[in-house]
Amino acid sequence: MNRRAEIAHRCLLLANKEIARGWHLFELEAPLLAHAGPGQFVHLRTGSSTDPLLRRPVSIHYADPAAGRIRLLIRISGSGTALAARRKAGEELDLLGPFGRGFPFLDETAPALLVAGGIGMAPLFFAAVQRQRAGLPFEFFMGGQSDALLPPDEYFLAHGIAPLIVTEDGSRGGRGLVTALLEERLAGAVKPLRVHACGPAPMLARVAELARSAGVPVHLSLESRMACGVGACLGCVVHVNVDGKVEYRRVCRDGPIFDGEAVCFDN
Ligand SMILES: Cc1cc2nc3c(=O)[nH]c(=O)nc-3n(C[C@H](O)[C@H](O)[C@H](O)COP(=O)(O)OP(=O)(O)OC[C@H]3O[C@@H](n4cnc5c(N)ncnc54)[C@H](O)[C@@H]3O)c2cc1C
Ligand code: FES
Repeated sequence: MNRRAEIAHRCLLLANKEIARGWHLFELEAPLLAHAGPGQFVHLRTGSSTDPLLRRPVSIHYADPAAGRIRLLIRISGSGTALAARRKAGEELDLLGPFGRGFPFLDETAPALLVAGGIGMAPLFFAAVQRQRAGLPFEFFMGGQSDALLPPDEYFLAHGIAPLIVTEDGSRGGRGLVTALLEERLAGAVKPLRVHACGPAPMLARVAELARSAGVPVHLSLESRMACGVGACLGCVVHVNVDGKVEYRRVCRDGPIFDGEAVCFDN
């Protein structure tokens, strides 16, 4: 995690490639953002004007400090992301960041289980690449709706990664939810072990529950909706349990990664 250079950046978009239906991979020249770690995010102005006014949070999908480049992986889910997907190579993008605390303990030797639902794979892919390069053990579990809505195997293999994938309709890997893979893996697992997860809230709630019953520490990246992105509006707060008391935390400043033990999902 690194909080240097949390500033505005105008970055040249070098490439925008659709790698699965509605998933756009951006390559950007961004030397001041290329030191960011897995789990950190940028706040992106999706269009070329101030419409829409609010920026959208997007995880750093990959960063290469030597080349001064970063990648973002954007899945179209509404008007802002659809607008971003239409940006073309050669345009300048307006970004703020890097924001947030990254996934902790990525350099420890105990095996890491990386669990991603849908676009939740964006930051976990980066974590997997880091662990792969450092020769640290990890397993990468991914769930999605269907084959066409996930990047192809080659995308991962190009980085030496082979996630275990399941889809809800069974069109790729087994049929089912990624949490079922985790449940199977945690049954009788040898510790120490650590879980990192990112995806929709119901998935994260189940991941937290499974890790808690297995006695395995878990960190979750939460995808709250954001407005200011800098801790001022309180639009992104979540409830966490601190010593038996419920407290508020801002996902943009205090997260987006939280100890899964503490997050209150019933709110
Ligand atoms: C820390 C963080 C990192 C993120 N990283 C990525 C990333 O790497 N790639 C990516 O594609 N997306 C990422 N997201 C989610 C992305 O910010 C939202 O999909 C985007 O803001 C939606 O904007 P929109 O204008 O396209 O959709 P809107 O028109 O605003 O909404 C469209 C639909 O998406 C839902 N939605 C909006 N925001 C979110 C959200 N934050 N989480 C879940 N559902 C939402 C709305 O309820 C609505 O149903 C991240 C979110 C956070 C908080
Ligand atoms: S988005 Fe404004 S406080 Fe987090």
